[in-house]
Amino acid sequence: MDQSFFVKTYGCQMNQYDSEKIDELLVHNGFKKAKNLEMSDVAILNTCHIREKASEKFYSDLGRLSIFKKNKEKLGEKMQIVVMGCVAQAEGHEVIKRNSMVDYVVGPQNIQSIPKLLKTKSNETIHTSFLCDQKFSSFPKSYHEGASRQITIQEGCDKFCSFCVVPYTRGNEYSRSVEEIYVEAKNLVENGAMEINLLGQNVSSYNSHVFDKSKKKKLINLSKLCNILSSLPKLKRIRYITSHPSDINDDLILEHKNNKKLMPYLHLPVQSGSNKILKKMNRKYSKEKYINLINKIKYEVKNMAFSSDFIVGYPGETDDDFQETLDLIDKVAFASSYSFKYSPRPGTPASLIEDKIDEPTLNKRLNKIQKKLNEQQQIFNETFLDKEIDVLFTNLGKKNNQFVGRTPFLQPVHVFSSSDLVGKILKIKIERLTSFSFHGKILSS
Ligand code: 5AD
Ligand code: SF4
Repeated sequence: MDQSFFVKTYGCQMNQYDSEKIDELLVHNGFKKAKNLEMSDVAILNTCHIREKASEKFYSDLGRLSIFKKNKEKLGEKMQIVVMGCVAQAEGHEVIKRNSMVDYVVGPQNIQSIPKLLKTKSNETIHTSFLCDQKFSSFPKSYHEGASRQITIQEGCDKFCSFCVVPYTRGNEYSRSVEEIYVEAKNLVENGAMEINLLGQNVSSYNSHVFDKSKKKKLINLSKLCNILSSLPKLKRIRYITSHPSDINDDLILEHKNNKKLMPYLHLPVQSGSNKILKKMNRKYSKEKYINLINKIKYEVKNMAFSSDFIVGYPGETDDDFQETLDLIDKVAFASSYSFKYSPRPGTPASLIEDKIDEPTLNKRLNKIQKKLNEQQQIFNETFLDKEIDVLFTNLGKKNNQFVGRTPFLQPVHVFSSSDLVGKILKIKIERLTSFSFHGKILSS
């Protein structure tokens, strides 16, 4: 009988992409999908290591799942548990030590081996070599459909920010070939995709090459890749995430200016507005450089909106340093942002610094920054009230005849319609704003 599987995903879009690939790979290999982890023969946890909260959530789920597995075994039923993702890569031995019910620990660049491991019942538990080349070429054609899809174009990071585990969990920067990405994008578009989000831990350092007609090697960076993909007629929107401020070049700014398919929204994490902290974080830019870059982009690309990530309470962050972050936020005016309390991660240089910020101060700073960022988001969103905007509809809403889509700036929009809107880009008049999403009505197609 076919074995069933279920994948639970923690963390970022790169993990979502990997989970989808594992799903496709297992279906391709004759496995069938289960409704949830408990009902599966193969329970797969695709883990995140970026902050302590994410990895602790996984360990507590694993605890529950392993008790379930033990009970199943008592009834003579079998279950295999596979732990993949960044916790698997960073602390595979720890996973096995903490929970002996785990069958396989598979790092993000070894997931292509999962069907074989399951079929051959390998004795080797931990699989964590860095095998990016083999990974992407092992996946079958995607069978999933959807108006908005994602493609990992780059994996790993060479920046080594002092707080971050990514260089250790995803390895060195690796860019997929242009041909491979183009073929994948074409397939997604043929399956109904109108928007593609290009993913990478450091997508702005994407770097590959093609050979032109005279067999000369031509370097392809992110802007050129966006340009190439925009030649797919049915592809209407291109996005990319996440970028590093040091990698944004004039080519990319120009591409935003000239390529209407490239959405005017840039997620550009600054992390802190204090030069002292930025230096300690090894971010390789100053707050002045960041603000100048934002101003340059705003000048060149008139409707560009920005979002960012912030870490509050990095070791040694004083009230004055934190105030500098708040001042930077005022200067930039972000459309939306994510903010996190600093979380020491094993193996990172920052985790060795003694000068930790106490929990009450961390909480106070997080509340303060989130209040400011929410206010900015509200102000940004209010500028759209009573205006018309293009919305790409991707999903059904919670209510009857309701559809949900996104503006070019990623704001969710809810609209009622008696005909199916999924897979359409329509002009919508924005009528109302509730917390962070819009409600509107159709104006035209
Ligand atoms: N603590 C808190 N936040 C972190 N991030 C990365 N590492 C840590 C950490 N150790 C945040 C950064 C990054 C986002 C993906 O997660 O803001 O941009
Ligand atoms: Fe982590 Fe991003 Fe810094 Fe790379 S650039 S180390 S992924 S925070």
